[in-house]
Amino acid sequence: MLRRLHPDQPDSFAFSEANQKWAEAQITKFPDSRQASAIIPLLWRAQEQEGWLSRPAIEHIADMLGMAHIRALEVATFYFMFQLQPVGSVAHVQVCGTTSCMICGAEDLIAVCQDKIAPKAHQLSADGKFSWEEVECLGACANAPMAQIGKDYYEDLTTERLAEIIDELAAGKVPVPGPQNGRYAAEPLAGLTSLTEYESGRTRYNASAQLAVDLGDTVKRIDGSEVPLITPWLGDPGGKPPKPARGKKPAEPKPAKNAPADHTGVTKQQAREDSTAKPVSPSDPKRPSRLKAPRKTGADDLKKIKGVGPKLEAMLNGLGFYHYDQIGKWSAAEVAWVDENLEGFKGRVSRDDWVDQAKILADGGATEFSKRAKY
Ligand code: FES
Repeated sequence: MLRRLHPDQPDSFAFSEANQKWAEAQITKFPDSRQASAIIPLLWRAQEQEGWLSRPAIEHIADMLGMAHIRALEVATFYFMFQLQPVGSVAHVQVCGTTSCMICGAEDLIAVCQDKIAPKAHQLSADGKFSWEEVECLGACANAPMAQIGKDYYEDLTTERLAEIIDELAAGKVPVPGPQNGRYAAEPLAGLTSLTEYESGRTRYNASAQLAVDLGDTVKRIDGSEVPLITPWLGDPGGKPPKPARGKKPAEPKPAKNAPADHTGVTKQQAREDSTAKPVSPSDPKRPSRLKAPRKTGADDLKKIKGVGPKLEAMLNGLGFYHYDQIGKWSAAEVAWVDENLEGFKGRVSRDDWVDQAKILADGGATEFSKRAKY
């Protein structure tokens, strides 16, 4: 496949301030005159920030590393993991088309992408939110067919489930990754036949899916503020970055020329991120009534609510919420209060419709998610 730079390029590129500090810290991992070794992580971070690698981004990184532009271009155009054209503002869907997945229905999944996103790989959908491509084996063959979306694997896919996942992402939600047919990981569909003693102590989801759930939005662009910068090799575990390389100062990123934006200048990605945060006037939120401890019957398993992992369950318990019927009764003002007070998980209550889910569970019913998920 011929890998060329996209004909429509932005005027410039700059890392976000936090990403710039992160990039400069990566460079210090390598000895003098070997800074070029940092090219892959820096290109990757630029892609994580923008979704794809533009020519200005590649050249900016080459300058940071003291490399000739052509050397950085050689790296960026060699590795297929680097996207050389704009990708969907919400997600880029990578469908595995290698043997196991092909036998198990990858071609049907590609047909879903062609139908719902764009007829050809690497084309943007009409609304600019999605793009797709077929990729080589992603190493999840035991869960074929599968696709990578954002940083996560969606496995044991059917055409219906992939279509639903795309719809959910378009609606601003992040579906729980991992097996989509009720399997925990890659065990037989009928359940474990050996090592069953490990079943009881495990987390709700397998480790990869659990981490994704705990992190939350794993399709978002990375601006560097997500994880504190830690640079112990600089004698500064707090993460103070070194001086900018080559006398450059971190600059705010400018939007790409072709970034879809409305008349307010807000890109679709920004609009999507903003839309996931519930607008709350300071006078609106109202703290819901809480319990000092669970009732005698014991706390409900709040992890049956889609979007609640062990961390959020502990957080809810700490706020005095233990039961489905408590959550199911929250008013809009109370949802707003909880949304604002879930440190690190703001907006989750409304994003995942916890109230509606909790009402069903409180009545003894089951949601599609609670039926599918393992505990
Ligand atoms: S063949 Fe699809 S993940 Fe390996």
